[in-house]
Amino acid sequence: MAKLDGVLHFADLVLRAETMQRVVGLARRAAASTIPVLIEGESGVGKELIARAIQGESERAGKPFVVVNCGAIPEKLVESILFGHEKGSFTGAIDRRIGKFQEADGGTLFLDEIGELPLEAQVKLLRALHDGEVDPVGARRSVKVNFRLISATNRDMVQLVKEGRLREDLFYRLNVFPIRVPPLRERRDEVPELARHFLARVAREEGRSVKSIGAEALHLLTRYSWPGNVRQLQNAIFRAVVLSDGDELTVNEFPQIAAQADGAGGIAPAAALAALAQPITIAPGPVMLGAERTVPQTVAIGAGGLGILAVTAQGELRSLEAMEADMIRLALGRSRGRAEAARSLGIGRSTLYRKMRELGLEGYPRGPAKEREERNASFAMPAQAVGGATIPGTDRPDIAA
Ligand SMILES: Nc1ncnc2c1ncn2[C@@H]1O[C@H](COP(=O)(O)OP(=O)(O)O)[C@@H](O)[C@H]1O
Ligand SMILES: [Mg+2]
Repeated sequence: MAKLDGVLHFADLVLRAETMQRVVGLARRAAASTIPVLIEGESGVGKELIARAIQGESERAGKPFVVVNCGAIPEKLVESILFGHEKGSFTGAIDRRIGKFQEADGGTLFLDEIGELPLEAQVKLLRALHDGEVDPVGARRSVKVNFRLISATNRDMVQLVKEGRLREDLFYRLNVFPIRVPPLRERRDEVPELARHFLARVAREEGRSVKSIGAEALHLLTRYSWPGNVRQLQNAIFRAVVLSDGDELTVNEFPQIAAQADGAGGIAPAAALAALAQPITIAPGPVMLGAERTVPQTVAIGAGGLGILAVTAQGELRSLEAMEADMIRLALGRSRGRAEAARSLGIGRSTLYRKMRELGLEGYPRGPAKEREERNASFAMPAQAVGGATIPGTDRPDIAA
């Protein structure tokens, strides 16, 4: 979706519904100033995308766009990550570190799940907003920062204030220019166009010949309530394209949706119900038989992010060694060669060779396994928001068929 120059514009988004026109109207106005923006809406409605478009259409286009998911950072590290720290300011602070505010200097700082920010960090954020300065942990001097703040939340901020989990003064500072993004079920007229948009993209990326969505399937998609919003729709289309043999998507490719849609009994054909009866295996590992050694266990995060599995489906923490091996597999799979893999891992080539030997990865194929790797990787586990709960009912793009 992002153009080659990496700058996102409102024109790159599918925005059909009247309610979304209002959203864009507000967002454009916000783009023309540096007013702090608060984007409210359920998970998957497109908050981050809109934030990126605000930046893309502002004077700060092309400047850093720094994303922080406040709900995903361990509480102890929040301050150091946001504001930076000096060398030796606490145990483990072996180096000086630039905080996210400084990283975003000249550009935009996107604070996602702002309602999850611990109270102490809220005080510092308030000061950054008020004085345009941050105090890195352990630093003697404050640092001037020039950032544009866009925050996002899927929580009821007023309720958080009432519960004492969000400072009231901070709330007023953040809530200067609120933009509420409606859930997909409140803008169902957008579903067909979004679906076609994702279909075209997935078919192109996956090299499939699927070209259209049948009328009955479109009808089904439009009636469904989409608790996981646009992200869920995107995943459902992804999965459907992979399931499909023909050049048109039918109701059969959306068995979960068919089963959940209101009054689905009438529209879910036997084939769809039969497909449902066969449970889809969530493979927290290699999808392709025989690829166990080369495919890392990963978790898709958001639009383009990828995480390494830390806790197994059985609730067990994976060892550092297992995770390191996965990180190396990932790097090898995404690089054109071992030198490049070493570079992107930030280690020397001989260190990489040694680790590969120790981890038993020596026989790793040399060719660019990139495509297969990425496909497997993004199929390996359901997309989850970092630190957030898995969206109930979210259709999973993971198929081990
Ligand atoms: N209007 C839209 N047009 C195209 N893609 C969209 C639109 N809204 C959301 N998406 C896609 O849906 C997914 C979820 O959007 P995101 O901005 O991450 O949602 P949120 O931040 O609200 O959880 C992303 O992959 C995004 O690209
Ligand atoms: Mg998000």
